[in-house]
Amino acid sequence: MAAIEFERVSKRYGDVEIIRNLNFGVKAGEFMVFVGPSGCGKSTTLRMIAGLETITGGNLSIGDRVVNDVHPKDRDIAMVFQSYALYPHMTVYDNIAFGLKIRKMPDAEVRKRVGEAAAILGLEPLLERKPKALSGGQRQRVALGRAIVRNPSVFLFDEPLSNLDAELRVQMRSEISQLQRRLSTTTVYVTHDQIEAMTMGHRIAVMRPLQADQPEASNLMQCGTPMELYDTPANVFVARFIGTPRMNMLPARIADDGSTVQLFDLNLPVSAQFAEVARNQRGRPVLLGIRSEHVGLAHEVDWNGTVAIEGTAEMVEPLGHEVIVHLMVNGENLIGRQRSHAGLPQPGDPYRMVINCEAMHLFDPATELRLQ
Ligand SMILES: Nc1ncnc2c1ncn2[C@@H]1O[C@H](COP(=O)(O)OP(=O)(O)OP(=O)(O)O)[C@@H](O)[C@H]1O
Ligand SMILES: [Mg+2]
Repeated sequence: MAAIEFERVSKRYGDVEIIRNLNFGVKAGEFMVFVGPSGCGKSTTLRMIAGLETITGGNLSIGDRVVNDVHPKDRDIAMVFQSYALYPHMTVYDNIAFGLKIRKMPDAEVRKRVGEAAAILGLEPLLERKPKALSGGQRQRVALGRAIVRNPSVFLFDEPLSNLDAELRVQMRSEISQLQRRLSTTTVYVTHDQIEAMTMGHRIAVMRPLQADQPEASNLMQCGTPMELYDTPANVFVARFIGTPRMNMLPARIADDGSTVQLFDLNLPVSAQFAEVARNQRGRPVLLGIRSEHVGLAHEVDWNGTVAIEGTAEMVEPLGHEVIVHLMVNGENLIGRQRSHAGLPQPGDPYRMVINCEAMHLFDPATELRLQ
């Protein structure tokens, strides 16, 4: 296993800048997930680690060496793609063994490594089959086997599960996590699925496409553990990207005395966490972020500081274990959750919920950064 370090890494195609000022690292043995919307540069960044794309600026290191100019085959990396591209005419065994044979590894060592990988992946009964006689999940496991036998210092995955159906994806997600734990190989995993990111990553790097109106900003919006990103998102983008439904984000104002947040005609007491922020921002506009699990029914919750909010039920989504309620309040959408399926409102009905004031997040409306 090897650490990966990005120092001011940038990438441009001709005049078009794609990646700017990437500054962060993946620790040795860590499972790092890159997540972000389509086009934000996840695959490009992964391919720069693999050496399949050159970098235009900065330094990229793997282990102790700068690899800017190191050939892909000399980087000791194995990559698994969305399309697993198995050789259709070869058996599972030969598909897994192929990369070792072309490196002229002795037959006995090839047999040993393929045998170990097949055991780890539960492929032993399938070694003589051809890929067309395998399910999607089994094929993906063969692609994993091909990467494992190389015993690389880094695994790179680019959306390896997106061709699988939802159930199989959940299963393979935990298989890959367990495999990584067992092998402790440094891993970078690309996905645009934030649930995959939250459940698999030791840490997550949230990326965004470069913005024309922010010439200094990097693609990297925040890098941290799943719960760091969830509990203390550094900016509005991360706050809205991590978590479903999205965090509610409402225009508000800090009261002139700095003790409350004024939302519509409500006054929400400021939590201890934001007391100093509120003192500094007296009378200023803010964005108030509140997750849907902190908007509920008064008799179902035991929060310390709550304030009631009334609106019109726009949409009601019963999920079985809970109900997602979309309230329209002063033209703003506020999403809450409740447990009870009894007496649900119809669209258009007036409805009252409460907000957990202790769970508010405050952001600067101009910079969209978390106030702290
Ligand atoms: N060869 C190229 N020439 C010019 N632009 C490119 C090239 N390859 C990629 N891009 C651009 O770089 C940006 C980042 O692409 P990339 O494939 O890294 O995104 P991604 O985050 O992996 O997206 P997705 O989730 O859709 O796979 C995109 O705007 C893409 O159009
Ligand atoms: Mg991609």
